[in-house]
Amino acid sequence: MKAFIAANWKMNKTVAETREFMKTFVPLVKDASDVDIVIAPPFTALAAAAEEMKGSAVQLSSQDVFWEEKGAFTGEVAPGMLLDAGCRHVIIGHSERRQYFHEDDAVVNKKVKSARKAGLGVIFCCGESLDERESGKTFDVIRREVEMGLVGVEPEQLVVAYEPIWAIGTGKTATPDQAQEVHAFIAGVLTKVYGNKSGIIRIIYGGSVTPDNVDILMGCKDISGALVGGASLKPDSFSRIVHFKKEK
Ligand code: PGA
Repeated sequence: MKAFIAANWKMNKTVAETREFMKTFVPLVKDASDVDIVIAPPFTALAAAAEEMKGSAVQLSSQDVFWEEKGAFTGEVAPGMLLDAGCRHVIIGHSERRQYFHEDDAVVNKKVKSARKAGLGVIFCCGESLDERESGKTFDVIRREVEMGLVGVEPEQLVVAYEPIWAIGTGKTATPDQAQEVHAFIAGVLTKVYGNKSGIIRIIYGGSVTPDNVDILMGCKDISGALVGGASLKPDSFSRIVHFKKEK
C-alpha cells in the first residue's frame, strides 16, 4: 500500500514562512516515490503553498472545513472554497478541534460527509486521552469515534489517523507495539463497516513522530503512514520523515 505522510502545521507559519519552507522542501522530496506527501498549512497560507508546490507531487490539505456549501456562517470555510484554493484533502476530527472547539462525533460526521461530497479526501482523526487509556477505555473510544464519525461515508479517499492524545506534542510517542495494537483494532472496525473494501483505507499514526522514530513505526504491519505536527515545521526533518526506511 502506498504510504501517506502528512504535515499538520496547526497554527504556525505566515505566508512568507510558508513560501520559504516550500522552496527548500519541494526539491528535497523530488525523488520520493510510492508515498503521498501532504501538507496542511493554516487557511491564510493555502494559496501561497498551492502556488509553491505546483508541478511537484506534494499535495495540499486544509486543517478544517465547515459542512455548509455557502451562506451566513461568519468565519467558516466551505469545502468548495478549499478545492478552489488548491486543496485535495482536509483533516477532520483532530483532538484539538474536539477539545477546544467542542466538535463531537455528529459534527465530525457532518464535516466528513460534506467534504467527501465535494470531492475532498478526508484525513479522519481519532484517539484516546491518557485518562481513557489508563481506565481501559481505549478500544471503546476508538470504536465509537470511528463508527459514529464515519456513518454514511464511503471508504474511497479516506485516511484514518490514529493519534493518542497523550502523545500529541508531548514527545511521548506510543511504542510501536501500542500503536500497532490500536491500528490492528481500527482495521478490524473498518472491516466490520466496509467489508473487503476497507483494504483501501490507509491507517496512519500521529503523535510525536520524528525522524528518529518514523522508521520503526512505519515497520509495523498496520501502520501505513504518519500525521506529523512539530517535526513537520522544518524542511529537513519533514523530508527525512517522508524518506522513512521501514525497520522491523
Ligand atoms: P505532533 O502533532 O507531531 O506535534 O505530536 C501531531 C498532530 O497533532 O497531528
